[in-house]
Amino acid sequence: DPGLRVAADRAGLRIGTAVDTTALAADAPYREATAHEFNSVTPENVMKWQLVEPVQGTYDWAAADTLVDFARANGQKVRGHTLVWHSQNPSWLTEDAFTPAELRALLRKHIFDEVSHFKGRVYHWDVTNEIFNDDGTWRDTIWLRNLGPGYVADAFRWAHQADPRAKLYLNDYNNEGVNAKSDAYYRLVKELKAQRVPVHGYGVQGHLAVQYGVPGDTLTNLRRFEALGLESALTEVDVRMPLPTDPIKVQAQVSGFNTLLQACLLARRCVSYTLWGFTDRYSWVPSVFSGQGSATPLDENLVRKPAYYALRDTLTLA
Ligand code: G3I
Repeated sequence: DPGLRVAADRAGLRIGTAVDTTALAADAPYREATAHEFNSVTPENVMKWQLVEPVQGTYDWAAADTLVDFARANGQKVRGHTLVWHSQNPSWLTEDAFTPAELRALLRKHIFDEVSHFKGRVYHWDVTNEIFNDDGTWRDTIWLRNLGPGYVADAFRWAHQADPRAKLYLNDYNNEGVNAKSDAYYRLVKELKAQRVPVHGYGVQGHLAVQYGVPGDTLTNLRRFEALGLESALTEVDVRMPLPTDPIKVQAQVSGFNTLLQACLLARRCVSYTLWGFTDRYSWVPSVFSGQGSATPLDENLVRKPAYYALRDTLTLA
C-alpha cells in the first residue's frame, strides 16, 4: 500500500511529521507508520533547550540522537526544532540569575553546542521560533528584553558558523497569508539580507482550525519571500476542529491540509511539508485547546481520514 512518502518522493517534496520520541520507542505501529509515510522528521520536543540542557552544563542528547539515528536508518531528513524560543527553556535560565551579557554568552554557547552536535545530520534548523506577535510587533521575551532585536541576526550568524551547510529558518504560526505578522517577517528578512545575515528559509507552521477558515493567500505570501531569495517550508501543519466531528468539519479539514499543500507545490522553492503529528493518538491539540481535536490525518487507531487521502492524491498529481 503506497504511503504519502512514495508520492512525495516522486514529486520531489519532503513530506514530514513531528515525532513523539516516547511513542517512537514504545509503539510499533506508530514507528512503522513514521518510517512508511514520511521522508522527513522533526523532533516534537527533544531538541528544545529545556530537554537538551536540563541542568546547566549537563547535556542530554540521547532522545534526539535516537531520532536522528532512526531517520538515517530510514533515509529521512531531519528538521531541527528549535534553537531560540521563549518557551520550553531550562528552568535555570532566568533573567534573575544572569546579566544580559551572560545571557548573550549562554545563547551563543547553546547554539554552537547544539548545532555542532548535529552537524551534517540536521539539514534545516528552525533558528528562531515565534519572535513576533500577530500584530507584527516584537514578542516580549527574555531575548528581546535583554539583548534587543539584534539577537536574531546573532543567532543566525552563530548557527551558520557552527554548520555552514544547514539551511537556517525563521519559523512562526499565523504567518501563512499576507498579514501584519508576515509583513513584519518580510521587513525583517530585507534587513537581515542587507546585513548579509545567513537566513535561508521562511517557516510557516500551519496550525489551522476549521472554525477560523483557511488563509487563501499563502501562495502569494510564499512567493514574496522567494523574491527575497528565501526558500520556504510548511513546518507544523495540523487542522483542528471543535468536537464532535461532523461531515462539514471533516470536509473543511481536507481543504485546510490541501490548500497549504497546493500552495507549497505551486511555489517555486517550498521544499518541505511537515505535519505536527500524524495521528490523534499523540496530538498536542486536545490538551491545549479544550474541546477541540481530530487535528491530524490519522485517527487514534491510525485509521486514515479523508485528509490523508486528499494529501496523497494531491502529491500523486504533482
Ligand atoms: O516531559 C514532561 C513529562 O515529564 C511530564 O510528565 C509531562 C506532564 O505534563 O509533561 C511533559 O512535558 C510536556 C512536553 O510537551 C513533552 O510531552 C509539556 O508539559 C508540554 O507543555 C509540552 O508541550 C509541547 C509544546 O510545544 C510546548 O510548548 C507539545 O508537545 C509540542 O507539540 C508543542 O509544539 C509547538 C512547537 O514547538 C512550536 N509551535 C507550536 C507547537 C504547538 O504548541
